Amino acid sequence: MDLFEKCRGFYSDPEVAHGMGYPASPHEAQAMGLYPFFIPLDQSEATEATIDGRRLIMIGSNNYLGLTAHPQVRQAAIKALQRFGPSCTGSRFLNGTLALHEELEDRLAKFVGMEAALVFSTGYQTNLGALSALAGRGDVIIGDRENHASLVDGSRLALGKLLRFRHNDMSDLERALTSAPETAGKLVVVDGVFSMSGEIAPLPDIVSLCQKHGARLMVDDAHGMGVTGRGHGTATHYGLSDDVDLIMGTFSKSFASIGGFIAGAASTIHWIKHLARPLIFSASLPAPNVAAALAALDIIEQEPERVDRVNAIADRMRRGYSELGFSVGMGETPIIPILIGDQMKTLRIWKSLFEAGVYTNVAIPPAVPPGESILRTSYMATHTDEQMNEVLDVFARVGKAEAVIA
Ligand SMILES: Cc1ncc(COP(=O)(O)O)c(C=O)c1O
Repeated sequence: MDLFEKCRGFYSDPEVAHGMGYPASPHEAQAMGLYPFFIPLDQSEATEATIDGRRLIMIGSNNYLGLTAHPQVRQAAIKALQRFGPSCTGSRFLNGTLALHEELEDRLAKFVGMEAALVFSTGYQTNLGALSALAGRGDVIIGDRENHASLVDGSRLALGKLLRFRHNDMSDLERALTSAPETAGKLVVVDGVFSMSGEIAPLPDIVSLCQKHGARLMVDDAHGMGVTGRGHGTATHYGLSDDVDLIMGTFSKSFASIGGFIAGAASTIHWIKHLARPLIFSASLPAPNVAAALAALDIIEQEPERVDRVNAIADRMRRGYSELGFSVGMGETPIIPILIGDQMKTLRIWKSLFEAGVYTNVAIPPAVPPGESILRTSYMATHTDEQMNEVLDVFARVGKAEAVIA
């Protein structure tokens, strides 16, 4: 059997694609104009993107505060590029640590109310590094079923065992905690804000269960930073900064850059720093990205009204979609899923919106549970009221044409 046979089949044989749970092969979907992935943007000014010479309103990014277009952030990146160049050409462990990395780590630790923080080259690597360094043989990681893929992959890299509990189901979390061996070190891991549904994790209940069962708690707040807790994240949102053991964040969303960090007690961060293979065996975050994240952090601290603005826009859009008759789930954040269900219908609606000048994201398994499909929409502090009115008008037209709404 040729190892690559499946690759040819996946591209062009509908049966292979159906067997994998997709409604069409990528080739079929492309032929129908219903392939929403890997579309190159010619230009991006945050709230609008240009594709094939057409301007689209962007409601498919994680740029919650719109800071990728902020002159202060862009200037900081340019200055750092000129001073340090585009790469550190080495790992944090060796030649790849700049004073700038340490400055960012100190600032982030204070920002989330922890003793120390450690910066990785991506958020994905942060989760891989933290989980694999902490959960050794005999330990147990207990994760929500809707946690981000990087938490699942980090658990796979760890020698400890992964137990999963039903999404936001506290009795199932307690079952998992009880089923872990007495001798196991236990780490509960949840998204602070779930990346597809926009729901906020019920941290008060999770903290109580962790305390009852002697488990540590890590919150992946990739989508909470800059959004919840007046920008400081979901632990702050609940007033639980002292009860969460590890806070993880990424720079690829509100921080207008790329990279990630983990923050916690100094001894825990020191341990991760010396044992996390995704940190040690990979080149460090380039200076322009560190500088951009620092500049974004300055703005988040100085202008909390941006956080209020993105949340107000999200409330208005959630109300607008519901009034039109769309189903938007239970979220409370600037991630608003439009629940469609049928995958082909989701693709058709995506295409009509795209043609009408609105950029959304299609999420199908494994990004969402099997059988589900959603249009993931998300908002920025810099979106204008006019842009949001236009988006709602387009959704009303397309939703009616596709009979999703009356
Ligand atoms: C919840 C969550 N954690 C981690 C990551 C990984 O972050 P990054 O894309 O910055 O590597 C993401 C990114 O999509 C995410 O949504």
